[in-house]
Amino acid sequence: MSTPHLSAAPGDIADVVLLPGDPLRAKLIAERFFDDPVCHNEVRGMLGFTGTYKGRRVSVQGTGMGLPSLSIYAHELITVFGAKTLVRVGTCGALQPGIKLRDLVLAQSASTDSSLIATRFRGMAFAPTADFDLLRRAWDSATARGFAVHVGNVLSTDTFYDVDEPDGWKLWARYGVLAVEMEAAGLYTAAARHGVRALAALMVSDSLVAHESLSPAERQSGFAEMVTAALDAALGT
Ligand code: HPA
Repeated sequence: MSTPHLSAAPGDIADVVLLPGDPLRAKLIAERFFDDPVCHNEVRGMLGFTGTYKGRRVSVQGTGMGLPSLSIYAHELITVFGAKTLVRVGTCGALQPGIKLRDLVLAQSASTDSSLIATRFRGMAFAPTADFDLLRRAWDSATARGFAVHVGNVLSTDTFYDVDEPDGWKLWARYGVLAVEMEAAGLYTAAARHGVRALAALMVSDSLVAHESLSPAERQSGFAEMVTAALDAALGT
């Protein structure tokens, strides 16, 4: 049975799934790292592929941007296709002065300004949290690859362009939040609901502190290195 957003058949998708926001990045990951990749989804152009990495079956699925879009794919992957290990591989904007472009942020927890989770918890505050074993292994793998790795709280925001309060991020920074992105809190909440494992590994693509950013071309090299660290963490290879 396929789902409204994934045209795959049960068994077409592995129980370990990498989740980039950008579907073309899913294609790049599959072409670069997977043996025998097969495209399992083209619905809405949200490409997904399944292949093998170091002999282990693995999938990569684009999620789009923001908690609602990611939450749809995470829900269907977990409840219909049996995903058990979900690792977001994305980019983030640094909120702290010690975090530099191309550093790696592993989201131990994910705060959010989205109403999505607060609504589900009737106004109470759930704390979306990474799987510790995945986090530990990603840390080992990324530090061994030479990354400067930061572990802590990230902000999953609904607002990329905060036109009314451009300095709104400073509230979160004051409380030690490391970086801003747009999906991790949704992923951790979906994983918690269904008792599966999740992690978000985020390469720093821009800094709200230093007002600098990587060009799209500059993002590619560090990103690939992060994907290998994420694959090793997710597969235990
Ligand atoms: N804001 C939100 N999401 C992001 C950013 C940012 O600055 N950089 C990468 N993802």
